[in-house]
Amino acid sequence: MRKYLMAGNWKMNLVPSEAKKFAQDLVKSIDKVDDDVVIMIAPTFTALSAVSEVVKGSLIKLGAQNMNENESGAYTGEISADMLLDSGVEYVILGHSERRNIYKESDELINKKVKVALNKGLKPVLCVGELLEEREAGKTNDVVKSQVVKGLQDVTAAEMGKVVIAYEPVWAIGTGKVATPETAEEVHAMIRSTLESLYGKDIAENTTIQYGGSVKDSNVDGLMNMTNIDGALVGGASLKVDSFTRIAQFQK
Ligand code: PGA
Repeated sequence: MRKYLMAGNWKMNLVPSEAKKFAQDLVKSIDKVDDDVVIMIAPTFTALSAVSEVVKGSLIKLGAQNMNENESGAYTGEISADMLLDSGVEYVILGHSERRNIYKESDELINKKVKVALNKGLKPVLCVGELLEEREAGKTNDVVKSQVVKGLQDVTAAEMGKVVIAYEPVWAIGTGKVATPETAEEVHAMIRSTLESLYGKDIAENTTIQYGGSVKDSNVDGLMNMTNIDGALVGGASLKVDSFTRIAQFQK
């Protein structure tokens, strides 16, 4: 049975001392979750070690927001999978739209990162999603399908147990314009059928597909009650203890 992954992407917010205090407050606040729900927070790199100490033994798992596609070497300013693992990281968000659009990360690069993450034992959260102009041009399914297929190239069926997909329509990220549950569900169903054509029905049914883009405490229940939506990747609303707690404890 697939699980819901409720994840907070803190982006470039909270210095380590703030992140540590915030994580302590979250651990106290999120004191119970249903058996089929996993909670993850992704602080910035410099806060990972401090937050790792705080969440150890709690209901909260640790994620990172990005990593380099090489194992080690002369890549000034970059962070490797081993560095993340040594900081207690379990999940890594890859191909977020801010990486794709601001830092021009290609599907090929993101695929390399996905494969390195899997090789190293990290769980990649592969982000996909269309731009507003692509939606308006009727290209949503083509764009998202292609990002899924290219992002997962050469990922084996056995490795798929560790992969999470996050559908994040770019027009909904940080804009307050959430996709309606029905609009999101259509794309989620398409992603699941793409996974089925790549890996078969069992793997498709067992893969967690998160929604992201302006998820809040007030809209999370409607989204999570759709058949193919299995969690949320939350930016803004993950930076407040009350709202992220309510999101983590959504009503089925
Ligand atoms: P948002 O960001 O919740 O602030 O829209 C989501 C994301 O970028 O993952």
